Amino acid sequence: MKKILKNIPLMLIIGLVLSRVILVSCTKEKVPVPVASNAPDPNCPDTIKFSTTITDMMNNNCAGCHGNGGTPPDLTAYASIRDNASSILASMGASGTMPKFASKLADTTVQKFSCWISQGKLNN
Ligand code: HEC
Repeated sequence: MKKILKNIPLMLIIGLVLSRVILVSCTKEKVPVPVASNAPDPNCPDTIKFSTTITDMMNNNCAGCHGNGGTPPDLTAYASIRDNASSILASMGASGTMPKFASKLADTTVQKFSCWISQGKLNN
């Protein structure tokens, strides 16, 4: 009987250590698998081409007013479109006012401009 009483603290310590191990291994299993940083953006499956998609978008909807020498920003030149990209995107978005005096561009069109920005505003 005395021997068992003597061993109770030891058993408690072993119990604590064991429960610790079990708890730690359980929490470890819950750590989510990290998503690869180069995972493709589901909203931008294709690389947007400046020389076709963006140029067409600007020429068809904006360049009439925003040409070289027209209302700034110049939306016919790559450097000007690149440097003003975020205000151009905002101007076409839900709370934007462009194109002026015309109906808003389709969400899918605006999305393409947003993808072009997130893909690095390539002159491709
Ligand atoms: C009918 C003429 C006209 C068209 C078409 C037009 N704009 Fe504008 N835009 C203006 C004028 C005028 C201003 C100056 C501010 C104002 O009057 O709202 C302006 C201002 C801007 C500005 C700067 C101010 C702001 O709102 O951030 C941006 C960016 C812009 N336009 C982008 C565009 C884009 C992108 C398109 C095509 C999708 C477009 N505009 C089409 C006339 C036009």
